[in-house]
Order: sequence, then C-alpha cells, then structure tokens
Amino acid sequence: MTDHYQKLAETAAALVAPGKGILAIDESSGTIKKRFDSVGVENTEDNRLDYRSMMLTTEGLGEFISGAILFDETIRQTLPDGRSMVQAMTEAGIAPGIKVDAGAKDLAGFPGEKVTEGLDGLRERLAEYASMGARFAKWRAVITIGDDIPSRACIDANAHALARYAALCQEAGIVPIVEPEVLMDGDHDLDTSFDVTEATQKALFGALYDQNVMLEGTVLKASMVISGSDASDRADVAHVAEATVDCLLNAVPAATAGVVFLSGGQGDVEATAHLDAMNKIGEMPWPLSFSYGRALQAESLAHWAKDPKGHRAQAQAILLHRARMNSLASIGQWEEDLEGQ
Ligand code: 13P
Repeated sequence: MTDHYQKLAETAAALVAPGKGILAIDESSGTIKKRFDSVGVENTEDNRLDYRSMMLTTEGLGEFISGAILFDETIRQTLPDGRSMVQAMTEAGIAPGIKVDAGAKDLAGFPGEKVTEGLDGLRERLAEYASMGARFAKWRAVITIGDDIPSRACIDANAHALARYAALCQEAGIVPIVEPEVLMDGDHDLDTSFDVTEATQKALFGALYDQNVMLEGTVLKASMVISGSDASDRADVAHVAEATVDCLLNAVPAATAGVVFLSGGQGDVEATAHLDAMNKIGEMPWPLSFSYGRALQAESLAHWAKDPKGHRAQAQAILLHRARMNSLASIGQWEEDLEGQ
C-alpha cells in the first residue's frame, strides 16, 4: 500500500476505533430549519453557530466521538473565542468531516425516486476542503420503498454516483463515507427492508470495485434493516439486529474499514438498543458503530432551545450522555439501566 492509501486506511480505522462513533451535524439549510422550527428557534447563521459550537465544545466528547460531519457553512465558521471550527475540533480530538453531496433530486423517468447530485466540480471542492483540514466526507443516497420501487435504475444510478464520489475523495486524501439510506418511511415489513437493503449494498460494493475504490479507506454508513415506520407489526430489537447483521454479512466485504449506522427517525434509546444488540451477537468482520444525527442530538437540542445561554451546560451533558451510551453500544456493553444514571 502506498503512503497515500496507508494514510486513508489509518484515518478510516480511527473513525471506527473501539468505543468511538461519529456525530452527524451536517444538516443542510432546509433540514436544520425543520429541526429549529420543531423547537421554536429562529434559523439564523448565529443560532446555527451557537448550537453547533455548543455541541462541539462539549468537554470530553472526544472520548466517544471520533469525528463530526459538518455542513459547508459550519466548516468555514469561527467560534467566539477566535478559533476556527476545524481548530477547535482538532484540539478536542474530533476529526472534521464534510458533507459534499448536493442533495437528492427527483430521478427523471422514475416517479417517486431520487438520485443524489453533486459530482460536477467535486474534485475542486474536495481539494478546498482538504486544505481546510477535512479528513473525511459524506455522500447520502436515498432509496425509497413503495409500490414497485425501488427500481434497478434508481439503485444503480445512486451506486454509481456514490462510487465516483468515493474515488474522488480518495484521490484528494479524504476518507469517503458512503451512505445509501433505505428510508424507513412506509408500512413495509422486515423482509422487504432486508431485500432492498441487500440489493442496494451489493450494487454499491460492485460499483466501488468498478471505480477502483480502496475499501480499507472507506466507511459504509448503513441504514438498519427495520420494519417501516407505519408497519402494523414492527420487528423487535433482536430481529432488527439479526436481520441487519445478516444483510451486512451478505453484502459488505470484510476489507471495508467499518460500518456506522444512521438513526433515520428511530428513537434515541431505540437506536442505541439496536446497535448494542448487533454487537452482542459476536465478532464481526468490521467494527459496527454509529453516525447518528437525530438520535444523538434530539434531546440536547430540545433542552438547549428553551434557553440557549442558561441551558448550555445541561444540553452538553445530555449530548455527552447519549454519546457515552452509543459508545457502550458500539462495543456491546450498553444496558438499559444505564440510561437513568
Ligand atoms: P440521522 O441519524 O438523523 O438519520 O442522520 C444521520 C445522517 O447523517 C443522515 O444522512
């Protein structure tokens, strides 16, 4: 392995080091508006900086969080104490990551399906982010389950774009997180989720192979195999864990640096319980950890929003607790009793 690839492999391994996972705070302007609206906070640049710097300056967060995924605006921001966001994170032992896709757009010819855009000019954008200190990146593809969807065309178009993005990242010395999210929206059962997730992951790894992407320097951000959010008889924790692990074992080569999960609308403790149950199954070919957005932030955000100045320390304590719970889950050592402590 050349030095260039060796460094990518080391960065990827550090992101999924034992007991560590990723904090996803890369909400686009539209998504953060939704989150702020839900707690009555005005969506201004100052409020976004205040909220995100509150999280990233949480004392001790680096013990459980290896990296945080930022949005373009955030990586360019400066904290009130004069430090750049990248500097503050680096000092806290949290690797800076950056979301580089341009969002999921309607896929022409396939009503109800999406393809993620953002490849044009990506080489130049990655070079800039690398010069700013970004160590890893994220690209999210969205696969929807519904009547007669997803189509093969949708799965393949998204897999191709993910693989082209991953190759460009590695060229720039940035570890790609490849995220093909199978949405949990709908009333589908666990078996349907399994089949769609397996087909999506297999297409992705085929495309990564075709585009010469080095798997030791790649992290998969996976959705869990889970019943649709409106399903009448939703699978329990043990079945979700077993189906998710079976799916990954079928589709994800052992050389892949690691697998981190998105929370995708699961409850905070639910997401932790699922991850813990998977890691309690036994040895896996790759570390299984977390890259949660909502499931790490929700309670902290709600508390901070009530009084951003007065509640800052408590909002940080809430975030730190969730990070610690998920850290334990990533090594199969979480217990529900720990939640109350
Ligand atoms: P959620 O955990 O809220 O699904 O967000 C993770 C993420 O980064 C989705 O792209």
